[in-house]
Amino acid sequence: MKSASALIVGTGSALPSKVITNQDLEKIVDTSDEWITQRTGIKERRIVAPGESNSGLAVKASRLALERAQIAPEELDLIIVATLTPDYLMPSVAVLVQKELGAHKAGAFDLSATCSGFIYALTIADKFIRTDPQLKILVIGSEVLSNKVNWQDRTTCVLFGDGAGAVVVTGSKEPNRGFISGHLYADGNLWHLLTLKGCGSLYPPCGDHLPPEEYYIRMQGREVFKNAVRAMEAVALEALQTNGLTPEDVDLLVPHQANMRIIEHLRERLALPLEKVYVNLQKYGNTSAASIPIALDEAVTTGKLRPGDLVLMIAFGGGFTWASALIRW
Ligand code: COA
Repeated sequence: MKSASALIVGTGSALPSKVITNQDLEKIVDTSDEWITQRTGIKERRIVAPGESNSGLAVKASRLALERAQIAPEELDLIIVATLTPDYLMPSVAVLVQKELGAHKAGAFDLSATCSGFIYALTIADKFIRTDPQLKILVIGSEVLSNKVNWQDRTTCVLFGDGAGAVVVTGSKEPNRGFISGHLYADGNLWHLLTLKGCGSLYPPCGDHLPPEEYYIRMQGREVFKNAVRAMEAVALEALQTNGLTPEDVDLLVPHQANMRIIEHLRERLALPLEKVYVNLQKYGNTSAASIPIALDEAVTTGKLRPGDLVLMIAFGGGFTWASALIRW
């Protein structure tokens, strides 16, 4: 590595305490534990209770990450929150986190790149660090999707969950550790396959412009699935080839947690053994931008991820957007 790249020096995550199992969903929509398990791998998901919020989860995850990084909030220079479900349209989640932490020196903004948002945000943080390795940046993925899910639509409500993950990055002091590369992609031509149209400026909440179901997440699942598999495989291989590496070099693959069949397909294409792929979607479902930082935090705290490991993260989401990040932990 030529200039000091971003090294993750602390991770944290926060999940709401309320659990919704597949059996609970059987009572709400025409579905079954068997269908959900076979088609997605998800067994349960967490959702917020009254009083819990996107920014609240983000703050909890951030406090843990800062504590583990042994960095005080006042030392932070920048806070980036990847989210598609902010508390408000204005202000951002990032400024609410900044206020709550007392990170008075930090700039703060939200980033919208759906499920790829955390990798987009981490890649941006790395660019900042390469210009000034002293910077300390908090990168968060945080979502409350349960309020954006139509609980009468069985094709979507079984898939999503709430949660937050956070990492603290600063310039690596060791030449062989840190962020290696980020590859970011999008294809706006396919935007209509996964949408949440209502409540933006085109269709404000009080208008009669849209049918009620458009105020919730809508998805053409099969088309999303096909595109996700293709794009995630391509971006994973590109990340490795660009850096003269092969799948065998990877110590841990941390994919976006959307569907076990997508993850299994990737695992087979990269010929990775089971123990080299991090999976927790059975517990949390798809938490969009939060899924990768939650998985990273679990991998660290359970000892699956150790200093020096080569970590490949890949994500895909609405837009479409997709991305990879390769890190020497
Ligand atoms: N319970 C029971 N049956 C269900 C169901 C549910 N929760 N959801 C859909 N079905 C039914 C459909 O109505 C359909 O019935 P039909 O054949 O009588 O019309 C049948 O199951 C098959 O539906 P289909 O959509 O083709 O299923 P699938 O195998 O593609 O699985 C998804 C659906 C959503 C799980 C899958 O497409 C998927 O995971 N897509 C990608 C999701 C994703 O990653 N999204 C986020 C990107 S970040």
